[in-house]
Amino acid sequence: MHLGQTLSFTGDPFVEGPAAATHSSRGGVLIEGGRVIATGEADALRANHPGAEMTDHGDGLILPGFVDAHMHYPQTAMIASWGKRLIDWLNSYTFPEEMKFADRAYADEIAGRTLDLAIAHGTTTLTSFCTIHPGSVDAFFEATQARGMAGFAGKTCMDRNAPDGLRDDARSAHDDSEALIERWHKKGRATYVITPRFSPTSSPEQLSALGALWAAHPDCLMQTHLSEQVDEIEWVKGLYPQARDYLDTYEQHGLLGARGLYGHAIHLEPRETDRLRETGAGLVHCPTSNTFIGSGLFDMATRVAEGQRIGLASDTGGGSSFSMLRVMGAAYEIGQLKRNPIHPAQLLWLATEGSATVLHSEGEIGRLAPGAMADMIVLDLASTPGIAQRSAVASDIWEALFPTIMMGDDRAIAKTYVAGRQMKG
Ligand code: GUN
Ligand code: ZN
Repeated sequence: MHLGQTLSFTGDPFVEGPAAATHSSRGGVLIEGGRVIATGEADALRANHPGAEMTDHGDGLILPGFVDAHMHYPQTAMIASWGKRLIDWLNSYTFPEEMKFADRAYADEIAGRTLDLAIAHGTTTLTSFCTIHPGSVDAFFEATQARGMAGFAGKTCMDRNAPDGLRDDARSAHDDSEALIERWHKKGRATYVITPRFSPTSSPEQLSALGALWAAHPDCLMQTHLSEQVDEIEWVKGLYPQARDYLDTYEQHGLLGARGLYGHAIHLEPRETDRLRETGAGLVHCPTSNTFIGSGLFDMATRVAEGQRIGLASDTGGGSSFSMLRVMGAAYEIGQLKRNPIHPAQLLWLATEGSATVLHSEGEIGRLAPGAMADMIVLDLASTPGIAQRSAVASDIWEALFPTIMMGDDRAIAKTYVAGRQMKG
């Protein structure tokens, strides 16, 4: 039994506002066998479960671990590379680094490093692109399983506009991905995500092959990139002259669906937003990446009003931080530039429930309620002097939490638990 402050959602704060969350200044979470079995006020929980072992976190805020809905573990070692926009950034920094993952030992090293950084930053679930090398997928899932973490990932497929040594072909992309599905999908906490990188690096034949693979394995997820930068969109239109728009390059090849995750999705046309909403696809907002690479401003208010499903993500190494707190802070800043201040309840929801929902794992991760996996963090709301002096004069939990969202980093994560097992603190 863990005691401390607790915050949990009974509804969607984009619909109900902050009233969708319940705060207790003295709450509790009871864990057994890696899952949450009860939550409530500390006194009542103790009375109902008198024999349970107790860990008291004092004023620490007990939350679900953060769920990162889009990132690239192979880019960990080149995060914060200076001065380029998307296409040049890929060619100058990303592809040379991804080439190194032909070496399985290097893939193991970076996968382990990335997961340890995630745990230190309070992220308990990563959704990752790997590289074209099947061994990079084995490295990721072996590392998540060694830590007991949920993992969502797949082999990145590219058969054109990428350097020698970093291209597959339509057939091998299909066959290697299918072999990885057999090896990993639904094994323990692993979910396989079919992963065409984006339309510029896949031929129409490759997109078709992966669309057919998804149709044959419909409970897999599918992830890709969509309309991140204006130059990229022009390039896609040149490469796919028959397509009505960028999304259509996926739609025409069987790669649009409710279990699809579309990273960035910034510069969208009305037909695209209609189709994304109609299919129930997941849009993944990557705010630190969008400012770092200079991509543009995701229009959260409009997408929410349309009824889109939205998750939140670090997009490391295009994103410039391993911290989902920093990602929430950047989402707030982009909201401000769009004249739409996103409430801390909404930011927290996006980083937990929202991402879990686009991953079709709501109720399992991103939530501390009976039946959910006990992936949990304890947040210190006074982790630095600057944050502490502000939260000390807060009049409610949102005012106490917001300085940590805007100014916090891994020092704010006092403890991280994965499936009930303490991994930090
Ligand atoms: N578009 C295609 N590949 C990538 C990538 O690795 N990072 C980002 N941010 N955008 C992409
Ligand atoms: Zn990405």
